[in-house]
Amino acid sequence: MSEFTSALDSVLSALDRIQQESDRPPRASRGALQRLSLTTPANRPAPSSGSKAERLAPLQAQVAVCVRCPHLASSRTQTVFGVGNPDAELMFIGEAPGADEDRQGEPFVGRAGQLLTKIIAAMGLTRGDVYIANILKCRPATPGKAAGNRPPTPNEMATCLSYLTEQIEIIQPRVLVALGSTAVAGLLELSEPMGKLRGRWHSYRETPLMITYHPSYLLRSHSNTEKRKVGEDMLLVLERLGHSISEKQRAYVR
Ligand code: URA
Repeated sequence: MSEFTSALDSVLSALDRIQQESDRPPRASRGALQRLSLTTPANRPAPSSGSKAERLAPLQAQVAVCVRCPHLASSRTQTVFGVGNPDAELMFIGEAPGADEDRQGEPFVGRAGQLLTKIIAAMGLTRGDVYIANILKCRPATPGKAAGNRPPTPNEMATCLSYLTEQIEIIQPRVLVALGSTAVAGLLELSEPMGKLRGRWHSYRETPLMITYHPSYLLRSHSNTEKRKVGEDMLLVLERLGHSISEKQRAYVR
């Protein structure tokens, strides 16, 4: 059954792409495509019974065989669904797996991930308290290059976004944190500079959303100013969640 639905999924996305890009689109109405797409589990409304972990499991299985982006499906080692507490009140959203994440099947396990783990610890939390996922579930392919990562394209993110939206609908975190400008562009289609977007509340489908710098940007930056700004943003998140903030946490951003 899952082979059938994943084949159907890829036929639908190919038809949709041809319809958008071709001079001679296939003769299938959008309504018909939409009705067909509702037969694939990834596009059906999430089941509303069971624990959040139980409701995430079939979605994860669907993502694992996804071929919506054939070029990514053929180059990935595995998909990278998400990690952490399905009942989390706080969810972090990155852009896409890198080489380490593709190898291990878990988001944010490389250098940027280690820094994210430290940021979470500075908030008085662990990775197991929060949920971490990316907009793109596959590592963006870098054909012809043995190493290195590239940001996902807008088209790749738009193709994958429904999976993240469904994760958010199941987990229902009280607060989302978007890490970096690529994640912001994929989620909100905003392209203002990060300096203008971070540090204030936005929302994604009615869930409060804080925007902050991506940990890999912090790793590249030589000053501590941006690190402090991430600290400020995370204090706003803690306040919104109603967590108490220690003097040490406040002192870090001064
Ligand atoms: N960067 C991301 O945005 N996500 C990861 O999972 C790793 C690095």
